[in-house]
Amino acid sequence: MTKKIVRHTVALLLLMLSFSNIYAQKTTVQNIDSRVEALLAKMTLDEKIGQLNQVPGDISTGTDVSKDDLLSRIRSAKIGSVLSHTNFQNKITMQRVAVNETRLGIPLVFGFDVIHGYKTIFPIPLAQAASWDMGLIERIERIAAEEASADGQNWTFAPMVDVTHDPRWGRIMEGAGEDTYLNSRVAEARVRGFQGDDLAAKNTVAACTKHFAAYGFVEAGKEYNTVDMSEQRLRETVLPPFKAAADAGSATFMNAFNVLNGVPASMDKNLITNILRGEWAWKGMVVSDWNSFGETIVHGAAENESDASAKCLAAGSDMDMAGGTFQKGLKKALESGRVTQAQIDEAVRRVLRFKFSLGLFDDPFRYLNQKRHDETLEKPEFRAVAREAAAKSMVLLKNDGGLLPLTEGSRFKKIAIIGPYADSKGNKDYMSFWTLGLGVRDYDSTKVVRPAQALKPALEKLGYEVKVTEICLDATCTEKDYSVAINAAREADIVIACVGERGIDCGENRSVTNLELPREQERILSIIGRLSKPTVMVLFNSRPLVFDWANQNIPAILVAWQPGFETGNALADVLTGKVNPSGKLPVTFPRSLGQVPIYYNHLSTGRPQQYPGEVWTSGYLDAPTTPAYPFGFGLSYTTFSYSNLKLAKSQYKMGETVEVSITVTNTGGLAGEEVVQCYTRDLTADISRPVKELKAFEKIKLNAGESRVVNFRLTEKDLSYWNHELKWKADPGKFKVFVGGNSVDVKEGEFELVR
Ligand code: BGC
Repeated sequence: MTKKIVRHTVALLLLMLSFSNIYAQKTTVQNIDSRVEALLAKMTLDEKIGQLNQVPGDISTGTDVSKDDLLSRIRSAKIGSVLSHTNFQNKITMQRVAVNETRLGIPLVFGFDVIHGYKTIFPIPLAQAASWDMGLIERIERIAAEEASADGQNWTFAPMVDVTHDPRWGRIMEGAGEDTYLNSRVAEARVRGFQGDDLAAKNTVAACTKHFAAYGFVEAGKEYNTVDMSEQRLRETVLPPFKAAADAGSATFMNAFNVLNGVPASMDKNLITNILRGEWAWKGMVVSDWNSFGETIVHGAAENESDASAKCLAAGSDMDMAGGTFQKGLKKALESGRVTQAQIDEAVRRVLRFKFSLGLFDDPFRYLNQKRHDETLEKPEFRAVAREAAAKSMVLLKNDGGLLPLTEGSRFKKIAIIGPYADSKGNKDYMSFWTLGLGVRDYDSTKVVRPAQALKPALEKLGYEVKVTEICLDATCTEKDYSVAINAAREADIVIACVGERGIDCGENRSVTNLELPREQERILSIIGRLSKPTVMVLFNSRPLVFDWANQNIPAILVAWQPGFETGNALADVLTGKVNPSGKLPVTFPRSLGQVPIYYNHLSTGRPQQYPGEVWTSGYLDAPTTPAYPFGFGLSYTTFSYSNLKLAKSQYKMGETVEVSITVTNTGGLAGEEVVQCYTRDLTADISRPVKELKAFEKIKLNAGESRVVNFRLTEKDLSYWNHELKWKADPGKFKVFVGGNSVDVKEGEFELVR
């Protein structure tokens, strides 16, 4: 008995001792490394492997894994991080167990997918990119970080910076679209928003840039599929947004599920060790995607868990998300000499450094404060930003005859708001699957302001008589729905048709083979169309969709995307003209699925088509080569003209800055915002270069009649590219410069670059 007490007292003393060492000192940038080394020296192999293990909490976003006895596994130091856990009190309990009931008291780090808001839901990331407003995007992520950190999350699995040319791929909604430059600017803004300038601050979260790399190029747009591309294209198109995020200080990176040129990304040494950590000198921690270490076995690129562990660790990956592969295989890999102790130590070092930099060793409960939690979540001012963001993200594709905005004193009196998304209470409608902070199913759907809820009173205030007709509930249309729709339209002077995708159809594992408006909704539009009533189509979508009939027949089309909590208010703001739309497409809208992949910055073929149907040129027998709406396109209720494109000189020496200016004039009757876009084309490079490449943009506000000169400065870096020998350089020769309000309608200039 006495022996037992002595043993316990000694254990307690030892615990307090190691504890006081870990927690007594205050973390500074200078002392992190020495504290990491001191801690590492005390750790057993099992404790080290435990730090590399991340397990799911109360939400699963992948294949099911066992969640039994989370606390006892934390207690036995087998877990370094928990992901996707919502319950606040449980997080406190888990952290208590990690800190108070393990030998070394190493705190847990809590990770979570904060994709478009945490508790206050903003528009989907693709929509945010359509705002082309980096300040706004940074503010959104600042709020998301405020909320997530107040709820005990330390680390978000965002930004996703995967460039993609494929609207079939469900995850297109999670990135900034098809362009490398725009994705890079958005990546930086999002990292800055999440992390602020101090990772250890109570109201910031660490970013995790994902998915490294090339996940946006899965064959046939099919989720988790194969990627095969040249290294030239990888460096040119895919990697720059990752580099931008790394340079902005992204604390962590995530592997991708796909293979890249045959190698599963989680064990791609070239990507992780040579490029990310080597060329870019990035110092952070790399986490797998959900069981992506284990999936190397399914890819047929590893024999078993120990082989997978050895290959992933050796490639430079550090933490194992959700798969338990390291738990099963890493020790064996060490024993069989497949990995070295030094390799394991290096991964553990990165994890510990990460935890220190979050301030978790100074106060493991700093993100678990009940008062801050209660005071921070869903502040009313967050809603105001959500409304602003949703309105600024919307893209006006058509507005024939100036049908919009719907203002006071219009000749139309009666409005019918119809369609499956007029007033939907469907699961995650107007949002996406990626709103896990709300919970998965049992969230409070009344937090979403539905279109009809806000649009009806807003229009009534302007003197309209408004009737809302819900049809095609549960996203299924019946014959009855069609007759209800036609009756509602018949009684109205103008129809607002709210169509598109279900919220639950947006996000991971939601790839499609058909881009048409889903579930017969085009039929609703065409039936109403027979009445020849002026119609406004409002599209709720997470990807470019195809709606050819609507393009031909409907005078006004607004892409609302999935706008989040403030859907109805933002829509009312835009449709009534309180907000003048200023969104521009971050991705090309094709005419048909058959045109995919279609993107503005393609290479020139040897036989580009100059006009539709031109024979022996690169085109189709049955369709034009042009898209329905090009990259960068979006209308306003006012109009802008571009004139006087000037280049300061016609010849520039290498290293000189090319100065471009243009006059933009608001030629309409309303104040409005315009995204002025600057593209270049390298006409005489070593290899074929894209027909246009976005190099810069500026969003400006002009009053009616106002003009402004907008300047762009292009450096040698902007004119450089990766050639076939993987050399990064600019070539002397001729360049074109294009400036305009989208990627097609541009003014052109030319200059020469000389040595
Ligand atoms: C996704 C990641 C996500 C992770 C955790 C995976 O299935 O690909 O983007 O961060 O789950 O939820």
